[in-house]
Amino acid sequence: MATREEFLHLAKTHPGPYPRFNYYPRISDWKGGATNEDWSLALKDARGQEVDLYIHFPFCKNFCHFCGCNIKIQSSLDSQRDYIDALKEEIKSYEVENFKIRNLFFGGGTPNATNIDLLKEFLDFLFKRINKSDDFNFISEMDLRIDEKDFLEVLKDHSLSGISFGIQDLNPVVLNLIGRKTNIDQLFEKIEGLKDYGFKEVGIDLLYGLPKQNTKHLEKLDELLKKSVINKISLYPFAHVPWFSDYYPEWDKYRPSVEKKMEYYYEVDQVLLKNDFFQIGYGHYFKKSSEHYQDFQDGKINRTVMGYFKGASKTLIGCGVSAISISPTVLKKNHKIIGQYLGAQNKLSKSHRMTSLDLKQWNKLQEISSKPLSIAENKDFIDLQRYFLPHLCQKYLTNTHGDI
Ligand SMILES: C[S@@+](CC[C@H](N)C(=O)[O-])C[C@H]1O[C@@H](n2cnc3c(N)ncnc32)[C@H](O)[C@@H]1O
Ligand code: SF4
Repeated sequence: MATREEFLHLAKTHPGPYPRFNYYPRISDWKGGATNEDWSLALKDARGQEVDLYIHFPFCKNFCHFCGCNIKIQSSLDSQRDYIDALKEEIKSYEVENFKIRNLFFGGGTPNATNIDLLKEFLDFLFKRINKSDDFNFISEMDLRIDEKDFLEVLKDHSLSGISFGIQDLNPVVLNLIGRKTNIDQLFEKIEGLKDYGFKEVGIDLLYGLPKQNTKHLEKLDELLKKSVINKISLYPFAHVPWFSDYYPEWDKYRPSVEKKMEYYYEVDQVLLKNDFFQIGYGHYFKKSSEHYQDFQDGKINRTVMGYFKGASKTLIGCGVSAISISPTVLKKNHKIIGQYLGAQNKLSKSHRMTSLDLKQWNKLQEISSKPLSIAENKDFIDLQRYFLPHLCQKYLTNTHGDI
């Protein structure tokens, strides 16, 4: 195990930010050129096979001042209906009934901020169309600060297997500063209550690099993890979006230095390790007693746009505003402005035609991230490799193919 000093030295010498290889190539390297017809052909190729389905729900009750997701606040019932109708049209256009759905993921925004009757109607529509694979897995994001009971009941009726929700931090000072007021006692109670649903997966998001963040409140995190409900954790570096500072000057006033940020990261990591979590890729942890961890040991976990999933399919159909779709021949992103998404017959706004080299590198990255890493050439990394997976991936690909 690396000492604190060793870790901080490496954090300083390899400060990142690291590319997140949840698909390849990254969107900044997409070359365009693929059309909607190419995407239809890619779907034709995948007929009869297992595919994954991502559906984006952009609604949120309030805006958290750090959020970089594609969201819409406090939308009226009519605008939610317009969006759900557009989603249905998009799903129909992909003829999803031709596939077996392996992983279904509801992301956001906040799926449980969607009107419950609209959501029921949408689920009826969706589940009438899709064929579930034998290993069907259904995960949804949600926000436990708003009503969740009806939402969970309705999704549970459609075999929801797990959930993921944001916590970000447990320090009220930080939470207020980032516009995410949270009643911590109530949150803890609700998390405890999740036991009744018997979910296979309960994941949380935490952030580091937030203003005024310090290690004092990590005792609260320790207390939470001891409840043994949570078995998957994403620990994200806060990604500063430039316009944040115009609206929230405190971002600049209290922004931690790189050293302070990495010290905090190290301390969070220690709390997670103490609570029996294992870091499977940079910032992603599974509880050692979970099914996921065993799957990871068996090489069955893949990196996807939706996080780490067991048996991810080669094709991911992304529906909704800003959704990304992946196939061995085409990558595409939908319009990211809701108005454009609603108005467009063709939802594609950005694309990339996969070359054979792209595919080779993507497969290599999948292979690396699907099992405990053993490719570190530099001995210094052996103990620390779990912290620097993206760096090692990049280094590995540079050595192998010379052009990344
Ligand atoms: C769709 S939200 C999770 C579900 C729900 N909306 C919630 O907030 O509880 C996705 C996650 O993205 C992460 N995120 C959002 N903006 C970010 C940013 N600027 N930098 C890093 N992570 C961010 C947060 O951790 C957040 O929980
Ligand atoms: S963090 Fe979650 S709840 Fe907050 S604005 Fe972003 S998507 Fe919405």
